[in-house]
Amino acid sequence: RQAAEQYNLDLECSFVIGDHPHDPATADPVGGFGLYLLTGHGTHHLDELPHDRLVFHSLGDAARWIDAHPRPRAMLTEAIERAAAEIRRGGLAAFPTETVYGLGADALSPRAVARIFELKERPLADPLIVHVAEPGDLAELVVTVSDKARRLVEAFWPGPLTIVLPKREVVPDIVTAGGPTVAVRLPANAIARRLIRAAGGPVAAPSANRFGRTSPTTAAHVTEQLGTGWGVLVDGGGCRVGLESTVLSLADEARPLLLRPGGVPREAIEAEIGRVAAPDERDTRRPASPGLLARHYAPRTPLAMVDDFGPLRRCADVGTLLLKPKAVGLGGVPGGDFAGPVEVLSQAGDLAEAAVNLYAAIRRLDGLGLKLIAVKPVPDKGLGRAINDRLRKAAAGSATGAE
Ligand code: TXA
Ligand code: MG
Repeated sequence: RQAAEQYNLDLECSFVIGDHPHDPATADPVGGFGLYLLTGHGTHHLDELPHDRLVFHSLGDAARWIDAHPRPRAMLTEAIERAAAEIRRGGLAAFPTETVYGLGADALSPRAVARIFELKERPLADPLIVHVAEPGDLAELVVTVSDKARRLVEAFWPGPLTIVLPKREVVPDIVTAGGPTVAVRLPANAIARRLIRAAGGPVAAPSANRFGRTSPTTAAHVTEQLGTGWGVLVDGGGCRVGLESTVLSLADEARPLLLRPGGVPREAIEAEIGRVAAPDERDTRRPASPGLLARHYAPRTPLAMVDDFGPLRRCADVGTLLLKPKAVGLGGVPGGDFAGPVEVLSQAGDLAEAAVNLYAAIRRLDGLGLKLIAVKPVPDKGLGRAINDRLRKAAAGSATGAE
């Protein structure tokens, strides 16, 4: 306030940026706008961060957003309203969630939903997740909110958990790919929730990428893949989880089935509802969900999962994705003994931080015209399972495959 007086600042057009929840929070009481950085301490305090805080993967991303939003609050509200209006009249809108950007349409309008499939070039056999703004909205879409579903909603919504249940008639067949179940989720992102509320009903939204390609974790990623002119894009900064939601089927209440590992680790789900079965992900003959397709999330550059980087280290046209620098004795120097470009997912080897950075790092390497991207599996626990799942699918989807 003192600075505003002394230097004649307009606080509505002023920003506070930091990597601890307290930093951007200092902007709130004076009507300024707080931005949160996922670098530095950023990923360690995400539990304390309100859902309406915009997050960014880098200071550069934050600076670009500020540049494009000189009147941040009003411009964001205006963008959300335009997006909601577009959805209400049967069009498309892309928006941030805590996991990845979604490409949304009115879930109850088959024609609107068809446009999603068209733009994404997504096979009609792959069903969509329906996004709601309130936990109570679930009951309108599914036959019964079972006991386990209720417990999961209480524990994890809003958050990166998608629940699959027998659908009600209101849900169009195109949303569920003709199937008897519907996948529902309530995102932990205030922009997404404001948009869904303003749209006036549930919003069907897959990730806002072309089918089979890397999911977008920033608005710029969406434009890179989908171009412009198809609808409204709400730029709400970066995605704080960075990996898609966990998809859990309760179609058979007695046998919960993990269809896709994701933002909520299986261990956390099991702590709430007991044992959860996981289909063998390598069995692609009869996937329980199209999301279990072996090929997915693929960059254009071939990606290979290796146990050891070995001679690949000496190849200048091989990019390497490392969980942490120390893991390969680089002493904190990314790229130390690699001839090609290196992306480090987390300086400390933290899996949440690695998840946040994963897709953006793959995209950066993918843009360098390399012959190959090499990566080692990360520890197979918690979010690590979701990361390995995406890496395996990216490898299977690329020209050389996993070998
Ligand atoms: O984090 C996320 O879930 C993001 C954001 C935008 O919410 N969305 C997302 O959507 O990842 P998408 O379409 O990329 O992935 C949805 C997954 C697919 O694997 C699909 O096959 C599965 O959910 N799915 C959708 N409905 C289903 C159903 N009724 N039964 C089984 N699987 C279903
Ligand atoms: Mg997707």
